[in-house]
Amino acid sequence: MADNDQQREDRKDEHVRLALAASRSVSSHFDDIVFVHRSLPHLAVKDVCLQVNLFGRALACPLYINAMTGGSQKTGSINEALATIASATGMAMAVGSQHAGLRKEELASTYRVVRKANPKGVIFANVGADVSADTALKVIDMIEADALQIHVNVPQELVMPEGERDFSEWLQHIEDMVKRMNVPVIVKEVGFGMSKETLHTLMSLGVQYVDISGRGGTNFIGIENRRRAQKEYSYISTWGQTTAIALLEAQAYRTRLTYFASGGVRHPLDMTKCLALGAKAVGIASPVLRVLQEQGVEQAVEVMLQWQEQLKVLWTMLGAKNSEELLTCPIVVMNEVKEWCDVRQID
Ligand code: FNR
Repeated sequence: MADNDQQREDRKDEHVRLALAASRSVSSHFDDIVFVHRSLPHLAVKDVCLQVNLFGRALACPLYINAMTGGSQKTGSINEALATIASATGMAMAVGSQHAGLRKEELASTYRVVRKANPKGVIFANVGADVSADTALKVIDMIEADALQIHVNVPQELVMPEGERDFSEWLQHIEDMVKRMNVPVIVKEVGFGMSKETLHTLMSLGVQYVDISGRGGTNFIGIENRRRAQKEYSYISTWGQTTAIALLEAQAYRTRLTYFASGGVRHPLDMTKCLALGAKAVGIASPVLRVLQEQGVEQAVEVMLQWQEQLKVLWTMLGAKNSEELLTCPIVVMNEVKEWCDVRQID
C-alpha cells in the first residue's frame, strides 16, 4: 500500500497515542537481577557523583530521553517539551525518526525545535537503517546533532502492511554510515533487544556504540497491531529479548563495545541495574512521555530530578560513588533470566 505524507503524519500521532494507552506490565526481568545488600557502604550521599562523560561532553547523569517523535505538528510540540525537560535536568535526548523532516521542509522544524529549546544539550539524530549515508548527514545537520542513532526495527516494519519488506541492504548502509559520519553512530533497537550474535555482526561492520533497547516497555508489535482492526500478529506480542537479557547477552562485549540500555526501565533501581551490567547510559521513552502528557513539563522535570536524587540514595546503599564503581557491585541473576543465561552459556 502506498504510504502518503498524511498517513505518515497520522502514524506519528497514533504511535504517541497508542504508546500512552498501552498497559504497563508490573513484573519485569529486571526483578530477576538482584543486588547483594551491603550493610557498611563507607560512603555519604553527598559524595555520590552521577555525572558521566559522553562523546566528550559532561552529562548531569547517565540518563537520556530516547527517540520518540517529530514529523507532525502535534509531535513537534512534544519534542519541544521533551527538549525543555532535557535542558532543565542535564539529560541527553534523541529525536524520533527524521525521515519526515527530510521529505517535507515544513516538518523539519518539528525536529529543529529540539536544538532551539536546548542549544547546549547533547542531542542525538535518528534515522532508519534503510537510508544512505548522504541522507544521514542531512539529519545530523538538521538538528546539529552530537551523535546519530540508526534504528533497526525489523519486526515493526514487517507487521505494518505499509512497512519495509527488504532488509538486504541494511548491513551495507550501517557500514557506510559508520565510515562517513562526522559524529559517533549508535545502532539502536526499538524494544526487541539485541543478542550476542547481533552485536558480533555490528562489531564486524565497525560499529562502536549500540543501544540494546529490549522488550519490557514500549512494544511496537503491540502498537502496530492496535492500529488496525485485523490484529493479525497479536500472537507474537512477546517477540524479542528483554532489556535484562539483552544486557547479559552484551557481557562478552563489555570491553569492546560501548552499549546503552533502554526498554522498560521503570525506575532508578532498574536504571542502576543497567549501569551495573555495563551500560554507559540508560534511555527512557514512554515513561517520560507519560508524565509529560499527564502532568506537564514542570512535573516531568520534577520527576526526573527526583530520579537523580533517588539514584544517589541507591548508589550510597551499594557503596558506589559513581557509575564506574557500580560495575564492581555483586549481583545475583535468578529465575527465567538465569535459565536464559544457562542455555546461552553466559557467565
Ligand atoms: C519510539 N521509539 C523510537 N525509536 C527510534 O529509534 N525511532 C523512533 O522514531 C521511535 N519512535 C517511538 C515513538 C514512540 C511514541 C515511542 C514510545 C517509542 C522507541 C524508543 O526509542 C525505545 O527504544 C522504546 O520505546 C523502548 O523504551 P521505553 O518506551 O520502554 O522506555
